[in-house]
This record gives sequence, C-alpha cells and structure tokens, in this order.
Amino acid sequence: MTQNAKLVLEGKETDLAVTVGTEGEVGIDISALRAKTGAITLDPSFANTGACESAITYIDGERGILRYRGYDIADLAEYATFPEVCHLLIYGRLPTPPEREEFRTRLTRHSLVHEDMKKFFEGFPQTAHPMGILSAMIASLSAYYPEDDTHEEIDLNIIRLLAKAKTIAAFSYKKSIGQPFIYPQNDLTYLENFLTMMFAVPSEPYKVDEVVRSALNKLLILHADHEQNCSTTTVRVVGSGGANLFASISAGVSALWGPLHGGANQAVIEMLEVIRKDGSNYQKYVDLTKSKDSDFKLMGFGHRVYKNFDPRALILKQSADQVLSNLGVDDPLLEIAMRLEEVALADPYFVERKLYPNVDFYSGILYRAMGIPTDMFTVMFALGRLPGWIAHWLEQRNAPGARINRPRQIYTGETAREWVPLEDR
Ligand code: CMC
Repeated sequence: MTQNAKLVLEGKETDLAVTVGTEGEVGIDISALRAKTGAITLDPSFANTGACESAITYIDGERGILRYRGYDIADLAEYATFPEVCHLLIYGRLPTPPEREEFRTRLTRHSLVHEDMKKFFEGFPQTAHPMGILSAMIASLSAYYPEDDTHEEIDLNIIRLLAKAKTIAAFSYKKSIGQPFIYPQNDLTYLENFLTMMFAVPSEPYKVDEVVRSALNKLLILHADHEQNCSTTTVRVVGSGGANLFASISAGVSALWGPLHGGANQAVIEMLEVIRKDGSNYQKYVDLTKSKDSDFKLMGFGHRVYKNFDPRALILKQSADQVLSNLGVDDPLLEIAMRLEEVALADPYFVERKLYPNVDFYSGILYRAMGIPTDMFTVMFALGRLPGWIAHWLEQRNAPGARINRPRQIYTGETAREWVPLEDR
C-alpha cells in the first residue's frame, strides 16, 4: 500500500500522507492541505470524511460487520451483559470476574438522583417528550457533580452518568403517567433496577420477567455504539471544546432525537400504525416512497453505512419473533413489518439503492411487547448508546494532539457591499 497520495490542483502537485487502519481502511490525511495548497475539501454531511482515528468500533457496511473493540456484535448480543459491554467500550476490555463485580456494585450504588432534582420533574408538563427531559436532566447533573479534572473524578462521573440515566429515564416515564417514582434498589442488577423503576407500583409486588430482561439486555447491547454517527459526532464535537461529560452527552441525546437518527424507532411504529389503519396496504406505502410528489420515506429503512444488511436488524428480527411468542403477545404490527420488508426488498427501487431494514425497524416492536410506551423508544436507544458516547468523549479528550473541532466552509453569499442607510433601502 502506497503511503502517499498525490493531488494535482491547478497543475501543481502536492503529496498527502495516507493513514491505514488496522482493518485496512484507507484515509487520505488532508490536515496539511490548506497550508500546502490554500484549498479545503468540501464534503457536506461528511459521507467521505474521517473526523478522527478511533479504536472503539469497527463497521464494514458492505459486508454487514459490526464489532465493538474487536468483538462481533452477534457474540456480544448472545453472551454478554449490558454492563459488561459498557465496561468493554469505555475501558477497552471485558471485565475480569472481580472487575465485573466491582463495576456492578458501583453502577448500583450511584443510581439515586439527588432529591433536589426530583423537583425538576415537577416543572415539566405531563405531555413533555421524555427525550427533552432526559437531555435537560443529564445536563443538570453537571450542577451537582462539577468536578471533572482528574482521572478519578472523570471516572466517578462516568459511573454516575451510567447509573443515574436509567433512573432519570424511569422517573420521566412515571411522571408522564402520574405515578409515584420507584427508587432504585441496591440488591437488583442494572436492568432489573430499570425495569422495576419503570413498571413496579408501590402497592404491589413486582418481579422482573426474564424474557423481558433478556430482550432488553440484547437491545441495549445492539445500540451501545456505532462509531461516528450523528449523535456520537455531536458528543465528540461538543467535548472537543472542553465541555464536561454531562454537557457533551446531553448534546448527544438531543442529536439522537431526530427521526432520521434514533427517533426512527418511534417513527417506525407510528408509520406501521398508519399502514394498519389503512387496511395494511403495503404496496401503497412502498409506492409512495417512490412517488416524486411525496416525501414519504419508509422509516426504519436505509443506512448511510450499511449497503448490504444491518447485522443489528437481523438479530432483532429473529428476536422479535421469539420474544413476542414467549411473552404471548400477538402484535399485528409485527406481521405488517415483516410483510412490508418482504415487499420492499423485492422492489427495484430499494434493491438499486441498497436499502435494507436498519436497527430501528424491529426494535419498536420489541419495546412495545415489553410494555414500553412509544415516546420512550428513543430514550431506550439513548440508554443503550450511553457507553458508546462516553467512550468516544473520553477517546477524543485523551487523543494525542486533540484540538477543538472546527470545520471550514465554502462561502457562497454576497461579496463585499456598501452600507445602505435606512432611508435609501
Ligand atoms: N425510504 C425510501 N427511500 C429512501 C430511504 C427510505 N427509508 N432511505 C433512503 N432512501 C433513498 C433516498 O431518497 C435516496 O434516493 P435518491 O438516490 O433517488 O435520491 C437514496 O435512497 C439514498 O438515500 P440518502 O438519503 O442519500 O441516504 P443517507 O445516507 O443520506 O441517509 C438515512 C440515511 C438513514 C438517514 C435514510 O436512509 C433515512 O432517512 N432512513 C429512514 C430513517 C431511519 O430509519 N433512520 C434510522 C437509521 S439507523 C439508526 C441510526 O443509526 O440512527
């Protein structure tokens, strides 16, 4: 592999260094381009831009490969627990048995949110979207835990964030249905705690359903990282300015909210409901995506990186079938989703554009079967993505020679003009 690329601009040749990743990915290093040539690159939406070197997650979109720290996503979804995956992403390796125990204890001990923060929940209207609450509450944690200079302080805040985010998420749900908050309990595991805080009521005993726990474990692992996506890039960009962990992750939550990104899981279920109410006419909606007069998109389909299949969607499709039957849930939306997928995958429009179901196509059906309300779906995505965001925030902060992220632009506005006094306009 050549270690240099040559650029010819207005007849003048410039050498550019080439960086090759451990999986053979090739990047032309243009960091000296402007100094050498006066020109910059133009890549709106960053589809061809590597913004960093990263050792966290590897994706080969052509072959449908996704690995966290070298481990295949299918193995992690099958064998790991979500806290183990958090440890893997953040610290770079799977925990040993004593480390696993210590990590679990720390995640449990820091689950309570400050009692004063409960008052914040009272201030939100009952109809507030839980993503807005989650983002605001995570940013607010910085008011309670401002120290983040030393390695130990940062590490403690990472644990606090992982532990408290699930409490905040469950409290925002309880607030939306007008039920009292259920506090975390130290004898429960991470997922048991979350499910108990979501679904227990003070007057009745509550036991976590093993099918639900295990499906949630898988879902969170599948969402835990996805390299330089919109929200992770947001976290890295905000963090590059020196913003603290809570502020940076809160920005990531906001970035995730949009329907083209994490908000797609909610949008998929809303779309499937529309199709069901319209007599399950799949072809009509596939045709609508192709119509020039409509901007309708099949939500849960397509991906910037995957051009073959999304390995997460394959696992979730299998899991959805199994979990619904184990829980005895008969959801007509699963049938509609499967039929819609079949019709779309046979359609030349989708084939030519390499559009396949993505992780959000089946995740909503699983969340529904667990009893999680539709507007909480993106919050579930955020809980899963937390360790990925944290790992990237840390990686960018510790990268040798890290600088503030600051892209350039090609200006296309007016050139210099004379000031016009008000009476002459
Ligand atoms: N339905 C119909 N057509 C589509 C879809 C879709 N879901 N997605 C892409 N296309 C078409 C698009 O119109 C374009 O067609 P043309 O070449 O004729 O203009 C072509 O496929 C290429 O699409 P693109 O918009 O250039 O692709 P992108 O890489 O910019 O966008 C995407 C990727 C995921 C935003 C997009 O596929 C999309 O909007 N999908 C629906 C929303 C969704 O499911 N998002 C969740 C993504 S997975 C979770 C996550 O990581 O966030």
